[in-house]
Amino acid sequence: MSDDSCTSPAGARTAAVIPAAGRGVRLGPGAPKALRALGGTPMLIHAVRAMAASRAVSLVVVVAPPDGSPEVKSLLDAHALPDRTDFLVVPGGESRQESVKLGLDALPPDYDIVLVHDAARPLVPVDTVDAVIEAVRAGAPAVVPALPLADTVKEVEPAGTPGEPEPVVATPVRARLRAVQTPQGFDRATLIRAHETVTEDVTDDASMVEKLGKTVLLVPGHEEAFKVTRPLDLVLAEAVLARRRLNDGF
Ligand code: C5P
Repeated sequence: MSDDSCTSPAGARTAAVIPAAGRGVRLGPGAPKALRALGGTPMLIHAVRAMAASRAVSLVVVVAPPDGSPEVKSLLDAHALPDRTDFLVVPGGESRQESVKLGLDALPPDYDIVLVHDAARPLVPVDTVDAVIEAVRAGAPAVVPALPLADTVKEVEPAGTPGEPEPVVATPVRARLRAVQTPQGFDRATLIRAHETVTEDVTDDASMVEKLGKTVLLVPGHEEAFKVTRPLDLVLAEAVLARRRLNDGF
């Protein structure tokens, strides 16, 4: 075990924080993204159920849009959720980072492992959630589900105006790249320190832990854990749900 590993005991309690305070402008006009329906159920409820599906997760903290806590609370009350899981709703902030921090601030003391899961990834399978928790329990300070890339990726000099041609700066070797998903799992103390220390803008929580100089481990992600960002993603998500209903009467 490396000296930057943590020592979460096998029976450590696990909580999941779900930042759901974004407006989701890339999906087009309408309700906040997390409240959009998928198969007739709000995306956020799918994400909450996906976390609560893991028997290891005993608390789910939902970070609601700043003025949307009452709406999110009544949404949770209106949908069937496992009895063995507790739920908390807290108002979010201006940035994803701030929203996650507000979720962490609301955690009771007796949780040693924290998952951070985007409400925008409603269909992550429970096996992926469990694999992340397992790797944190085994001693990793930060664990991220990830997949190899299908596309080659170019680094560019970004144009000031969308749609303008952009010069390529570099082409990273695709075989060394991974697309990362959530839930990302953390030793709680490490994640709190990362949020207290790192002030740069980041797009995921694990990169804050990297900035502390700690090792972040990747485990295999899942194609159904994709992020619902654009209108076409909603079509794909509906198709995944329809296939699940056919396969197992979900
Ligand atoms: O914008 P993006 O898709 O990266 O957002 C990822 C997640 O962060 C979403 O679930 C979104 O609701 C959440 N978020 C948040 N607070 C913000 C912005 C985004 O909780 N201020």
